[in-house]
Amino acid sequence: MAHKETVAIYPGSFDPLTNGHIDIIERALNIFDRVIIAVLHNPSKKALFTVEERVEMAKQSFNGRRTIEVDFFGGLLVDYAKMKNAAAIIRGMRAISDFESEFQMALMNRKLNKEVQSVFLMTGLRWIFTSSSIIKEAAQFGGDISDMVPEPVKIKLMEKYTKIK
Ligand code: PNS
Repeated sequence: MAHKETVAIYPGSFDPLTNGHIDIIERALNIFDRVIIAVLHNPSKKALFTVEERVEMAKQSFNGRRTIEVDFFGGLLVDYAKMKNAAAIIRGMRAISDFESEFQMALMNRKLNKEVQSVFLMTGLRWIFTSSSIIKEAAQFGGDISDMVPEPVKIKLMEKYTKIK
């Protein structure tokens, strides 16, 4: 019987993509055939980068890898997952502090669509303390974040903060 391709959605703000996110994507690709990075398009949520910039940086970081798609979505995540025929939603977990909101979100998503499963992957220990926000804060004040983000993101962060200053 032909193998049915398994697809997972990895949703988030990705403002910007970090090496912690990449670690989760690589782990997800050990389980699923294809991962769709879905950047949240929510005009009322303040972000440093536009959705186009966030998508572009993610695309550049993966350099056209066949098993990774980069897209954006608005509205309900479960509707987007259904539209993409995805079996699962991937979320990364760093520490206990992530658990409560992730649990709440997963149960809400299940209530909205019981067909889509939430799959939680533990980030590598190396990335336990990183987040897009803390990286932006360090970068803003000239901190070296070069081993925490992919090269295209590092360049864009530097550009952004030089313009703002
Ligand atoms: O990177 P983030 O900001 O933690 O990602 C949050 C995200 C995008 C996964 C979440 O806000 C989301 O799914 N938003 C879409 C709206 C939705 O479906 N809400 C209902 C589930 S709580």
